[in-house]
Amino acid sequence: MEFPVLHRTLGTTGPQVSALGLGCMGMSALYGDTDRAESIATVHAALDAGVTLLDTGDFYAMGHNEMLIGEALRSAPAKAREQALTSVKFGALRGPDGAWLGYDGRPAAVKSFAAYSLQRLGTDHIDVYRIARVDPDVPIEETVGAIAELVEAGYVRHIGLSEAGADTIRRAASVAPIADLQIEYSLISRGIEDRILPVCRELGIGVTAYGVLSRGLISGHFARDRKLAANDFRGMSPRFQGENLQRNLDLVEALRKVAEERGVSVAQAAIAWVLSRGEDIVPLVGARTRERLTEALGALDVTLSEADLAAIEAAVPADAAAGDRYPAEQMAHLDSEH
Ligand SMILES: NC(=O)c1ccc[n+]([C@@H]2O[C@H](COP(=O)([O-])OP(=O)(O)OC[C@H]3O[C@@H](n4cnc5c(N)ncnc54)[C@H](OP(=O)(O)O)[C@@H]3O)[C@@H](O)[C@H]2O)c1
Repeated sequence: MEFPVLHRTLGTTGPQVSALGLGCMGMSALYGDTDRAESIATVHAALDAGVTLLDTGDFYAMGHNEMLIGEALRSAPAKAREQALTSVKFGALRGPDGAWLGYDGRPAAVKSFAAYSLQRLGTDHIDVYRIARVDPDVPIEETVGAIAELVEAGYVRHIGLSEAGADTIRRAASVAPIADLQIEYSLISRGIEDRILPVCRELGIGVTAYGVLSRGLISGHFARDRKLAANDFRGMSPRFQGENLQRNLDLVEALRKVAEERGVSVAQAAIAWVLSRGEDIVPLVGARTRERLTEALGALDVTLSEADLAAIEAAVPADAAAGDRYPAEQMAHLDSEH
């Protein structure tokens, strides 16, 4: 693949990374069937194209995703392996049946999670380490303080946050430098714009945006009659249900018209829009196949004019999405929504 993968820096203290990161979650969990060989080929193709940021979580299929990344890194050319940066989330507690049992941000747990992640990844350090959801029972200062000790000891390079709200971000940043906040941000999930993004900018914290395609909903490839596996997150997501799904797919058709006029795909328009929101924002794309990756990387070649941006935002107005971005019990875990 030949794409000029541009670079951006995660906040004022974080590493330089490719302007698009690869989110690896769907290669192990939450979006139905997975294909190990194609997943590894996709990671290799991303590294080959100059993507340096690989995002995972230790709880994505209970370690499966980290072991997959470990295998992909081991079998990648040495230069690509050296340039790759791992962004790892921890803290979610899972049962043997896959149940979600809560979050644990206690300092001893943080260090234990890290020890297991290093083994599974087969690396001697994690580049950016973050708790997936703020643990309501543990002050964020303690969780971040424990990661800071891991930084001091050389096991972690940078500290990140995930789905944290403005006040929590300030408290975390008072303990140690924070490289980035990972949070959902897309044409149909713009909640960070009012308070969270301004605080990140004030404190020099970058944003790694996930769900830029709203989990495939605004990719242009999601069909209304698509059958979802029983364990597919989208089967429970309010935005993918009945009337909401139809309304959201109507927005996609409006976006498709704008994209087609500009000779780009729907997914490329959606990713390019997030890229246009600031040099401090790095979209993580959840490509699981080389074909989808190629399409996503094509967004780096798309320059949107003011008129293009206005047309995209007219097609998908800021508050137009039907349905919350998570089911109610998961919304309750989002510090960013409180
Ligand atoms: N911090 C957090 O709380 C949090 C939460 C969720 C995710 N994340 C991270 O963010 C990453 C990205 O999130 P996501 O996977 O939900 O985001 P996404 O990129 O919005 O959605 C990925 C889905 O979009 C579909 N898609 C269609 N065209 C695509 C294209 N050209 N490129 C990529 N995907 C395309 C894929 O479906 P098909 O494969 O079926 O085509 C894929 O399942 C995750 O992998 C994970 O690392 C973080």
